[in-house]
Formats: sequence, C-alpha cells, structure tokens
Amino acid sequence: MTIQEVPAPGALGGSTPLAAALRDHPERRYIMFGGKGGLGKTTFSAATAVWLAAQGKRVLVFSVDPQASLSDIFERDIFGKGPVKITDNLWAQEIDADRHIKEYQQEIRQKILDMYGLDEVPQEIEDYIQAASAEPAMEESAIFDSVVDIVVAGDYDYYIYDLVPLGHALYYLSMAKVYDEWIAKITRLREEMREYEEVAARMRRQKEAEEDQILAELQYIRGRINAASRILTDRERTAFFFVLIPEQMILVDTSAAAELFAKFDVPVGGYVVNRVIPEELGRQEIPAYLRNRIVMQRGELDQIERLFGTDVLGLVPELERDVTGLPMIERVATLLYGEARSAASAA
Ligand SMILES: Nc1ncnc2c1ncn2[C@@H]1O[C@H](COP(=O)(O)OP(=O)(O)OP(=O)(O)O)[C@@H](O)[C@H]1O
Ligand SMILES: [Mg+2]
Repeated sequence: MTIQEVPAPGALGGSTPLAAALRDHPERRYIMFGGKGGLGKTTFSAATAVWLAAQGKRVLVFSVDPQASLSDIFERDIFGKGPVKITDNLWAQEIDADRHIKEYQQEIRQKILDMYGLDEVPQEIEDYIQAASAEPAMEESAIFDSVVDIVVAGDYDYYIYDLVPLGHALYYLSMAKVYDEWIAKITRLREEMREYEEVAARMRRQKEAEEDQILAELQYIRGRINAASRILTDRERTAFFFVLIPEQMILVDTSAAAELFAKFDVPVGGYVVNRVIPEELGRQEIPAYLRNRIVMQRGELDQIERLFGTDVLGLVPELERDVTGLPMIERVATLLYGEARSAASAA
C-alpha cells in the first residue's frame, strides 16, 4: 500500500464542532457513523460525503448493507455496480455480498478441481460448500474481504463506511475477532477437506501440494487482514462518530456501546444527536403529544450533555420529510458542517 498524501491542515471549511473535528485531524480519512438501526447513519454518511466532496476532496462512501440504502438516499441504482460517480469528487458503492459469496464458492470449487484433478466437484463436497456458505462466518468473510479490497486500493482522499446497525458494526471493528473467524474458517475447511480426502482419493489422479497451497492462502489472508485492521482501528486515521437520538433507551445502548468500543480500542471521535424537535415549536399551538415529546427530549438532551459533554459535536433537527436526493442531503450537510463551500475549495 502506498502512503497517501495527507491534506494540508485547514484545508476544510465548515463552522461546526463536527467540521472542526475533521479539519483538526486531516489525517483521519476513514470516517464511520455508528449507532442503532434507523437513527441516521446512512443519512449522515451521505451528507458527510457530499460535504467533503464539495470541499474538493475525492470521496468514496460505501456500504455492505443488502438493503441498498445508499441507492435509496442518492436515488440512483448503485447496488453491486462498483463505485458509481454521484457528483464531482464523489463516488458511492454498495457491495453485493451475495455475489461475493458466490464468487468465493466458485473459487473453492476450482481449488478442489485443480487439487484433485477432477472434472466435476463430487456431490458430497458440493453439499459441504453449500452448507458452509449458509454460515454467517462465510458471509462476514466475503463482506470483510470486499471492504479490504476497497480500503487497501487507496484511490480516495476520504473513505466513508456507511455501517450496518451497531451490533454488526462492532464485529467489523473488532478486527482481532474477524481475523480469528477467518483462520477458524480456513482451518475448518482444511479439516473438512481431509475428511473428504478419502472420498476424493478414489477419484484423484494426482496429489498436489495441498498443505502448501492452503498455508499460502492463510498467509495471504493474514497479510490483508493486518493491513485492514491497521487502518480501521488506527487512532490516527479513523474517525468514528456515534449517531443517537434523544430517547432514553437509545442513550442507554449508546453508552454501553461506547464502553465496548473503548475496550476494543476503537477511537470514538464524538457524538451527533439526530431528530431533535426544535424547542421553539413549544411556543406555538401544537398538539399535546408533540409538547410532551419536546419536554421528554429536553430531559434526554440534558442527560446526553452530562454524559458526553464536549464530545457532542452536533444536533440535527427533525426535518419535515425523509432525507433522499441531493438537495435534502445537502441540507443535512449544512446542518452538520455549516456552509457547504470553504474558501479553500472556492480558490
Ligand atoms: N433529521 C431527520 N429528519 C427526518 N428524517 C430523518 C432524519 N434523519 C434521518 N431521517 C430518515 O430516517 C430514516 C432512517 O435514516 P437512515 O437510513 O439514515 O438510518 P440508518 O441509521 O442508516 O438506518 P439502518 O440502521 O437501517 O442502516 C430515513 O428514512 C431517513 O431519511
Ligand atoms: Mg443505514
């Protein structure tokens, strides 16, 4: 991997604490928004991507979400199509994990055919490949592998990883665990293949250096995982922001997750609160339920301030509709970062 040029300090504009967090750490080029389901991770990822691109940075926003939520928010069919250009400097990519699993299966089949000099994969082994692919570990590995490909390629100034909900995200971020999964999977495959060797031996024409081949694969994978985990858990280069909303349960879960992240040594860059109902509404004629929600949110916002203090980098109001399409995304970007263009990008 090549060492990429770090943007000059002060190159980013923006007037909010979140903008400052990125501006003050130009070396942090891997940006993630984490949080429970449906709180605004994709919205903030897209808004951040649009904002950074408007600042003149080359940006890739990507996800492994089979729900294709980047396609929804950008109103473009992105899923499984590689990096798709959205605007100047901005690309979006949705990884089709299913396709990667199929490719991976095919790879295994080919290996078995080559190894044993067969023309056709024996039914027993095909059954095994099918069963193994249904395992979550296989999906995780396929996804993880594609993320590694993207990040290691190093074609962009900023990578914004639009994460799946928290529990899952934690899995990707605890790279040591992913690494173990990989090794376990390969070891398991290796053991299974020994079991099947007896079956295959009958059909085998010549024995190849199976041990060497698998070992070489293990070492290759180890190299890739080390490269990726270095990046993703790198305090210098990764910015991880929590998205939350002012509700008690979310607050409890977010605190718990933050503790867990600290344990995994994932550097938390700060917190952004979404869907805050503007308090000035309370001075108008509004229904009681809305008034009650404002009071409830006020209490939670106080609590959020007590818990996270100056790590709270932004409050985004409840908007009148879903965030889809560039104009709405730009609006959220302005709410998160302040004015869309900096002097630097205008120059
Ligand atoms: N401030 C807001 N005002 C109004 N709607 C919002 C706001 N923020 C997010 N939304 C809407 O809420 C829904 C969920 O947001 P989003 O998809 O960004 O959440 P997510 O955390 O990515 O969800 P998931 O966990 O499913 O990936 C979307 O329809 C989005 O447009
Ligand atoms: Mg999402």
